[in-house]
Amino acid sequence: MEIYYNDNFFSLDIVWGVVEMKLTPRLLAVADKVPPGSRVADIGTDHAYIPVYLLMNHISSGVIATDSRPGPLQAAAETLELFRLQQLAELRLGEGLTVLRKEDDIDVIIIAGLGGDTICSILADGLEFLQKGILLILQPMTCVGKVRTWLAEKGFAITEEDIALEESNFYEVVVARWTGETALAQEKYLSLGPVLVARKHPLLKPMLEQRLEHKEAALAGAEYSNSPAAQERIAELKAEILAMREVLQCL
Ligand SMILES: C[S@@+](CC[C@H](N)C(=O)[O-])C[C@H]1O[C@@H](n2cnc3c(N)ncnc32)[C@H](O)[C@@H]1O
Repeated sequence: MEIYYNDNFFSLDIVWGVVEMKLTPRLLAVADKVPPGSRVADIGTDHAYIPVYLLMNHISSGVIATDSRPGPLQAAAETLELFRLQQLAELRLGEGLTVLRKEDDIDVIIIAGLGGDTICSILADGLEFLQKGILLILQPMTCVGKVRTWLAEKGFAITEEDIALEESNFYEVVVARWTGETALAQEKYLSLGPVLVARKHPLLKPMLEQRLEHKEAALAGAEYSNSPAAQERIAELKAEILAMREVLQCL
């Protein structure tokens, strides 16, 4: 096996004369949730690594890759050109879901590598569009619990969840589809990942242990202050720590 291309996000290997593109675990955990044959929109595509992977592996026959900034979209154009895939991917410049149209006939929307708050606001701005049953594959870099809560409140069912480990960082992937039913009351572990907990994902234990350590350090820091804001934060942290310990006991 010869590696002839490598950067931070993917490598290209030649195996028995066939070029294979290998994504990093985070991007792969996102890409492998796409059902074969889907028409995909990758929002905030940057270098278009996911679209290239989906096209090269014939998982998708057509991709719309979008970004809110011209620089990343130019990088996407260059990656697609490198792989001679520019005919199969359409690049669109613009904010969130505003660049998508009903006629695009999208089956799957990917939003990966953005903060949880940004993801929630992108989804909120395009809620009507998403109510057509489009599959959402989300990989928030922060506030994953907030994204899950937003989804549950707005009538999305979380159908699948995953964790990827990359250089001691854990990344969560949440897959959801609009059903119109709000499942908030039933989801005890919404902030931790109900599907991850139910399926005892093998990376859930190490991820929670790492997070528990951070939360306990944050709690120790917050306990120095008597302000009402600090008291609120302390109560929040204690509830989070309790939920994590509860789940850890079952893993
Ligand atoms: C950190 S990169 C993530 C790239 C890739 N999706 C990944 O997971 O590696 C985030 C990209 O999202 C773009 N972005 C940020 N906010 C956006 C928005 N509201 N709509 C579309 N793109 C956005 C940024 O310009 C940037 O290129």
